[in-house]
Amino acid sequence: MDLPFTEPFKIKMVENIYRSTKEQRESWIKDASYNLFNIKAEQVFIDLLTDSGTGAMSDKQWAAIMLGDESYAGASSYYKLKEAVSDITGFKYFLPTHQGRAAENVLFSVLVKEGDVVPGNSHFDTTKGHIEFRKAEAVDCTVDIASDTNAMHPFKGNIDLGKLEYVLQNNKAEKISCIIITVTNNTAGGQPVSMSNLREVGLLAKKYGVKFIIDSARFAENAYFIKSREEGYADKNIRDIVLEMFSYADGMTMSSKKDGLVNMGGFIGLRDEELYQKASTYNIIYEGFITYGGMSGRDMNALAQGLYEGTELSYLESRINQVAYLGSKLKESGIPVLQPFGGHAVFIDAKKFLPEVPKEEFPAQALAIELYIEGGVRGVEIGALMADRDPVTRENRFPDLEMVRLAIPRRVYTNNHMDYVAAVVRNVFEKRSEIKHGVKIRWEAPIMRHFTIKLERLQG
Ligand code: F0G
Repeated sequence: MDLPFTEPFKIKMVENIYRSTKEQRESWIKDASYNLFNIKAEQVFIDLLTDSGTGAMSDKQWAAIMLGDESYAGASSYYKLKEAVSDITGFKYFLPTHQGRAAENVLFSVLVKEGDVVPGNSHFDTTKGHIEFRKAEAVDCTVDIASDTNAMHPFKGNIDLGKLEYVLQNNKAEKISCIIITVTNNTAGGQPVSMSNLREVGLLAKKYGVKFIIDSARFAENAYFIKSREEGYADKNIRDIVLEMFSYADGMTMSSKKDGLVNMGGFIGLRDEELYQKASTYNIIYEGFITYGGMSGRDMNALAQGLYEGTELSYLESRINQVAYLGSKLKESGIPVLQPFGGHAVFIDAKKFLPEVPKEEFPAQALAIELYIEGGVRGVEIGALMADRDPVTRENRFPDLEMVRLAIPRRVYTNNHMDYVAAVVRNVFEKRSEIKHGVKIRWEAPIMRHFTIKLERLQG
């Protein structure tokens, strides 16, 4: 018999969490204007809002923290991280930043100009925000199959090469800031991008003379999917797969809060010295001197260690399988979940879960509120609220996917916690026919509204 997967670590420190009552949660969510970002973390029992910065560090990372060099310029922690970045990604030039969106801000300050187009595979919301803020256009060229939540395609995160080439053919190269491929594709459900897709994008980028940047937050999880699903990669090790993935690109932006296994941090990796020099100036303006860029020396040390731990096969196997464990539990109960299960989260199809809630009443947000009230589980809406309004028409955008994402922090929860979450979702599913209304917007910010939005709950 094959032995089952298990976590390649044991627990040395615990943090207590507390169960509240339904009455308490009803009052807290009302006070929070039905926005789960406004809830205090201590009012949450199982927090699946995000897998970003919420992971547990290892004993080796905590030990590395004690050895941090806090010198302003030229700290040993910087050189340690630079070496780890080059070792893991192959990028020679590197700039630390305080998190992923800061890396986007610095790099896009060089690359993105007003009137540009930036094709990609479902740009993440901060990525799109940074592009639209500069009055450029993010063109989503994701494969159509990504919006079919039941299609069992192994690489639903891919970019459609035909759609991409169409954009490249119909715009002058100088109007295309870069191509951005996000691995794994968070917005499309944590779905991976295949190696062959990355290779083809690299070829198209060269053919049309445009830069190719990888938004790399979950690069190691993507590599695990390539190893387990793509022909020819089963016997390759994760680190070689990662190096090949990055070899096709000109650069990367990284939110280290995901596969870097740290609570804060980011960086840019580049191959071209000139681009690195231009980006360095913006790094100094926005982030800090080029040898710390918004990170403490101790945090750079922890990240250097985290990059190695995050690319270990045994860790990735337990990580991806825990996500699939929760996904399978939900599926067994007939709950509509996005399949195949993604790398970092289980996505519930809210349109199918709550078919009576009209799209104008934001069914995914309605479902996320129900899950919180039922059992103190905090997920996040990935749907029309997050999609913002069209920057030109100011109409609501209603994307194909209207989902609640249950993102699983790395090395934090046990499968007992996953059983609890599945029971909460099941309870709400059993009373779904009673839920006919969602929410109405009371106040919203002009861009990236979902973080601060104020809502009213429509009942009955
Ligand atoms: N790119 C991707 C694919 C992301 O998922 C995120 C963040 C970022 C960039 C920005 O990185 O948060 O370090 O500034 N995603 C988080 C999430 C917030 O919940 O998915 P950051």
